[in-house]
Amino acid sequence: MDYKRFVEEQIDEIRRLVGNDLAINALSGGVDSSVVTVLGHRALGEKLKTVFIDNGLMRAGEPERVVTLFERMGIPVRLISAKREFLDALKGLTDPEEKRQAITKTFYSQVFGRLVREWGAKFLLHGTILTDIEETVAGIKRQHNILTQIGIDPEKEFGYLIIEPLKALRKDGVREVAKVLGLPRDITERIPFPGPALATRIVGEVTEERLATVRAATAIVEEELKGTEAFQYMAVLLNDRATGIREGKREFGQIIVVRCIQSEDARTAVPVELPWEKLKRLCERITSLPGVNRCLYDLTPKPPATIEYV
Ligand code: XMP
Repeated sequence: MDYKRFVEEQIDEIRRLVGNDLAINALSGGVDSSVVTVLGHRALGEKLKTVFIDNGLMRAGEPERVVTLFERMGIPVRLISAKREFLDALKGLTDPEEKRQAITKTFYSQVFGRLVREWGAKFLLHGTILTDIEETVAGIKRQHNILTQIGIDPEKEFGYLIIEPLKALRKDGVREVAKVLGLPRDITERIPFPGPALATRIVGEVTEERLATVRAATAIVEEELKGTEAFQYMAVLLNDRATGIREGKREFGQIIVVRCIQSEDARTAVPVELPWEKLKRLCERITSLPGVNRCLYDLTPKPPATIEYV
């Protein structure tokens, strides 16, 4: 495929479809939404409003990092702080499916939906890729029907359209387009990070305090394992506690799991045989976090486990 030509065609097409109206898109910093942001911006300039919705579930410094990175490329991104709305929606929930649904609903119906209406945007630019469509058809993923999710009936709201410039590409194609667009390696080579963010790595209730623990452990894991050839690595906070001793006193502490896997396409995965020294260092650093007194390494392949815990 001629990716340069693909870029030109998509820019023309977005421009033609949007005309003099306004479009909106949500950037997460992942490669798909980043590519859509750059394509959309080149096509529409100020007629595209790009938002980064901070759901409070991100890694340390992530919202600011992504916004700054795009600002350096000359693309303004509005950082929308919605932490309270997401935390309120997650309050008291422990069931994994309920937690995921609460996040999706808060994103589309509450926060993003409100912005679309406030700004009177007529078009949504969305980073759907071919794999998303195939997995939806195969019943692996839930349908990405944004219009319904934000409570807009496309029949009533005549003229409202979703534009999906990447729907003919798979991940490798999107990475090629990202290179043509000159996106930095930070984005093109970023390890996968799920939409529901750190909530997929907290077993049990998501609270501010528990988020702080998993966020700190995540920073350690990412720092220590950066540069390994792994497909993905993460820290997970379990919902149980274990007895330990700190400064001569008994402590009933938190348990963090480190997971580091190799995979081709995330459909199957095997644990990476990390050097013992690396594991010991991870354990030392993680158990020095306040209240954490156990660190475990997950040896389970996918299947039977999934990659994330929630
Ligand atoms: P699982 O846990 O299903 O994950 O083995 C497979 C891959 O998908 C990522 N993942 C997600 N990505 N939204 C995303 O954008 C999600 O809800 C989601 N859940 C899992 C996961 O990180 C892994 O790479």
